[in-house]
Amino acid sequence: MWGGRFSRRMLPELERFSASLEVDFELYPFDIAGSVAHARGLTAAGIITPAQLKAIERGLRRVKRELDEGTFEFASTDEDIHTAVERRLTELTPAGAALHAGRSRNDQVVTDLRLYCRLASATAVDAIGSLVETLSDAATKHAAWPMPGYTHLQRAQPVTLGHHLLAHAEPLLRDAERFRSAYASADELPLGSGALAATTLPLKREVIAKALGFSRLSLNSIDAVADRDFALDLVYSCLSAAIHLSRMGEDVVLWASSEFGFVRLADEIATGSSLMPQKKNPDIAELLRARPGRALGSLSALAMILKGLPLAYDRDLQEDKAALFAAVDDVIEALRAAALLVRHLEFDQKRLAEAAADPALLATDAAEELVRAGVPFRKAHEAVGRQVRAGKLAPPWDAKQSLSRRNLPGAPQPRRVLARAKAAGRQAAALRSWAKAHPPPLSL
Ligand code: ARG
Repeated sequence: MWGGRFSRRMLPELERFSASLEVDFELYPFDIAGSVAHARGLTAAGIITPAQLKAIERGLRRVKRELDEGTFEFASTDEDIHTAVERRLTELTPAGAALHAGRSRNDQVVTDLRLYCRLASATAVDAIGSLVETLSDAATKHAAWPMPGYTHLQRAQPVTLGHHLLAHAEPLLRDAERFRSAYASADELPLGSGALAATTLPLKREVIAKALGFSRLSLNSIDAVADRDFALDLVYSCLSAAIHLSRMGEDVVLWASSEFGFVRLADEIATGSSLMPQKKNPDIAELLRARPGRALGSLSALAMILKGLPLAYDRDLQEDKAALFAAVDDVIEALRAAALLVRHLEFDQKRLAEAAADPALLATDAAEELVRAGVPFRKAHEAVGRQVRAGKLAPPWDAKQSLSRRNLPGAPQPRRVLARAKAAGRQAAALRSWAKAHPPPLSL
């Protein structure tokens, strides 16, 4: 790649230390699409001929096929996927030698990474859509089932199971917006920035952007090769979703315990014990609970790589990919596992209703009845508190009636829960159709 300037090879140990092929192999579809687009930009600028473009496109399609099918033969000099693709292309056609004009691996890598991030964001949005659909189906079914709501993990006031399930859907819907915003931050073309100072060649950046479906061009060639904010945005979105899944996992762990008994784990989602024959364990939910650690690890790794890094490109940036890919793979896998878990939960209506029948849950209702009769709330609170202490609380109504009165926007009144479940289902469907239309297909 730089043979002209060098007379000896790098030490093999250090070649191995600096190689990134094992990790950036994953970028090959984006690298090939990026190269096709770059070749079109060079053609539009009159730097390569239409015949060379044809040969390059044909060659790149062949390289892609070899990589897809696993017949691609890597050479010991392939230090990353970008050099491997270009090396193979040049073996296939002499036109390959013209491809890298006006391009550096610095703008090439970040272009590939932005293409990866767009697809990853859309895939996450789709997975969230499926999970929210599942939650909204379950909430529809259980919109009116009373259960105790908790604060400090102590029984507090009545809610419905549907309302509680939707309380897990709302944060995921917010995560979907985070992923869409991560998509938008990735949606920018760096090619044309070269190593850091663009190029003297009249490269047609608009042509390249159009071929890759990028909606805008980067505005500063130094920033373009140094920027990984879009990756931070995506990894943070992964962390946020992982945190929300962990809270859902923890609910399943608690609810599946004999102490709660709110949910039965169907065999399809449970594990047994190698020693205790009676056990049925919520391992899947526990793994969801554990996942955010890895996502936070990725976020802090990426932040540490970027912190204090001089502009523009530095080799440190090569280390961004392992962290990014792990966060993305983990969260998509976890979102899909969570949807399967929720789909197979069997709720115990009787246990939930018994727990919700605890009269103490209606102490606040009793105080609010006094408020309705004109008693200031603090006085009402104290009076009811004394009744509870003396074991003489007389709730004004039962949990069902309490729920029917909780009729503010956002409250657990069953008809409201049902309406919100339906609306969340529609939002989920809209997310999935957005994900189907994004990113635009890459032309090869
Ligand atoms: N493998 C490198 C990466 O992923 C490619 C960029 C190398 N650029 C350079 N100037 N050495 O970042």
